[in-house]
Amino acid sequence: MRKSATGQSHAKIIFFGEHSVVYGQPAICLPISKIKTIVSIKGADTGQHVASKYFTGALSEMPDSQTGIQLLINTILVELHQEKTPFTLQVTSEIPAERGMGSSAATAIAIVRAFFHFFHQSLSHAELLRLADVSEQYIHGNPSGLDAATVSSKTPIWFVKGRRPQAIPIKQNAFLVIVDTGIMGQTGLAVQHVKSKLAGDHHAEEDIEMLGKIAKQARSCLANGDSQKLGFLMNDSQTILSKLGVSHPILDQFATLALKNGALGAKLTGGGMGGCLITLTSSKPSAKQIATILEQHGAIHTWIEPLATGYHKGEKN
Ligand code: MEV
Repeated sequence: MRKSATGQSHAKIIFFGEHSVVYGQPAICLPISKIKTIVSIKGADTGQHVASKYFTGALSEMPDSQTGIQLLINTILVELHQEKTPFTLQVTSEIPAERGMGSSAATAIAIVRAFFHFFHQSLSHAELLRLADVSEQYIHGNPSGLDAATVSSKTPIWFVKGRRPQAIPIKQNAFLVIVDTGIMGQTGLAVQHVKSKLAGDHHAEEDIEMLGKIAKQARSCLANGDSQKLGFLMNDSQTILSKLGVSHPILDQFATLALKNGALGAKLTGGGMGGCLITLTSSKPSAKQIATILEQHGAIHTWIEPLATGYHKGEKN
């Protein structure tokens, strides 16, 4: 056992394929390496303590809202035969919660990495994802696994539920603006909403298939550098996601505003019903201009990312 250890993870956005990915369609997901979650664990004389923005106290006394994290830590301790080891664990995260940016998955991944490091254990990527799924299942109820796969990936990925994610290179010279509306959007509720929609409206099934087709076309656009068409595909996705009932009036308003001000495309990202919007722009000055305008209209935060984003330094698995 080490005296102390850390584990890291980062934010994610879904470029194409949220919700349809739950039903077996492909998704394109991007790691956002500059927005991080860091977990540090220190050896202690007695007790097992957790400290985060949401709770500080004994592991055994975590509130209901933190049950997923409690379950995850207990599972790791049991699997590593360390149930009685005293420690203090601290979660520090820059990822806003419930905005579709992978905050819960990033916390889970960073916790698993930190414990395996603390106890000198090797960890495969498959094992990392299996353990992160313990809290993700509890928090989101039947997640596709895409969040944990992306927040632990160094590269953009093509994700199909149940399959090994494929790294996809992106060379395009374009920029994304990630726009935080400040409105909480609970992924679990949004997924439930789409499920009910599918049960009562046969058009919803076509919409899910169409989102899958759009993701495939977007992959071709990424391969041949067609930013203009990528923008159209983002707008088409937003129209379908709106129809499925997972947009929000503020997301729609921000999308319209971004397009009026030169964005190539705009759509929600993640579960929706609040959370973040992403817009594609052809240059950094255009991205800056759109970010400023959306902040003037109430966005609480914006981040500008080159589309050819990647993970430059980080952890091995
Ligand atoms: C959440 O980031 C993405 C959803 O597609 C749910 C999931 O994939 O589990 C809405």
